[in-house]
Amino acid sequence: MTVRRALISGCGAYLPERVIDNAEMAALVDTTDEWIVSRTGIRQRHVAAEGEFTSHLAVKAASAALAAADCQATDVDAIVLATATPDETFPATATVVQAELGMVRGFAFDVQAVCSGFIYALAVADNFITAGQAERVLVIGAETFSRILDWSDRTTCVLFGDGAGAVLLEANEGSGVSGDPSDRGILATQLHTDGRHHDMLYVDGGPSSTQTTGQLRMLGKEVFRHAVTNLSSVVGETLAKAGLETSDIDWVVPHQANKRIIDGTARKLKLASEKVVVTVDRHANTSAASVPLALAEAVGDGRITAGDVVLMEAMGGGFAWGGCVARW
Ligand code: UT7
Repeated sequence: MTVRRALISGCGAYLPERVIDNAEMAALVDTTDEWIVSRTGIRQRHVAAEGEFTSHLAVKAASAALAAADCQATDVDAIVLATATPDETFPATATVVQAELGMVRGFAFDVQAVCSGFIYALAVADNFITAGQAERVLVIGAETFSRILDWSDRTTCVLFGDGAGAVLLEANEGSGVSGDPSDRGILATQLHTDGRHHDMLYVDGGPSSTQTTGQLRMLGKEVFRHAVTNLSSVVGETLAKAGLETSDIDWVVPHQANKRIIDGTARKLKLASEKVVVTVDRHANTSAASVPLALAEAVGDGRITAGDVVLMEAMGGGFAWGGCVARW
């Protein structure tokens, strides 16, 4: 008996033109290229221009994903956009993107799970497709974290960047047989939150509490401590749901927060570093955009090809974390 699957049929990405390297950061706060590279692996980050909003980055990434999938915006049923930095408190940034793309039917909404947002948005879109409620869904991760950083706090401002990535999901008939190379599409997703960890990573403002945008606050060491443990366990859970083993993975596309977290998680899972897609050196942490940006790079340069088993994972504020395994 066949099963309905959500196949990832196109990827797109967009990074703002302006690049700030570590030397420039060192002119802004008391830091060094050596500290940033050795503690995080980050060498530079992209930052949106004045007047360039999350929706602008999202539209460019989404247009590229549609072009890669050879699909028109008018054929898309839904947009699920993951962001913690929306253009406005409401309406959803996804609706701005919908209008800009010329999509005059269907529905669009935002998902807020900070750095895990793209994994959450994938899970939501996958459920719409497998439930038969949509045939084609655009899933976007787009952020302008530069707007919520405290640029005088060296412990956070050096870590983040702006960008957007997108994928098109299309309904596909799969065999439903675990390990079958023709069983293409999203095979499993797994989500978790633990709201007790609010104070370790949050924005200290918002419409209901302070009526200000607020700025990002993080106890980095604490987040780091939880990250490797949570990520490796969610990877195990996601694979188990799909009936797969670590050895079945062709590519890992992790959230790009810190090279040491990426390496630590790979080591814990006994995954060869050659199978891990890394962009944190050039993009820094772009929150919900980091996984689709890395996906677009690895698909664009031919590393990820049809039939590959791709494992995506992310963890961030909330805490929220999750995994998704797909056969390309
Ligand atoms: O996507 C959301 C999830 N976020 C994350 O995954 C981030 C997780 N955390 C991390 O990536 C790391 O904890 C950080 C990169 C944030 C920090 O690395 P660390 O090795 O945990 O450093 P630390 O916080 O223990 O700080 C070590 C020292 C401190 O100085 P003292 O107290 O030892 O004298 C900091 O004040 O480094 C100092 N420091 C800096 N020095 C130069 C902190 N930030 C900087 C900086 N430049 N930018």
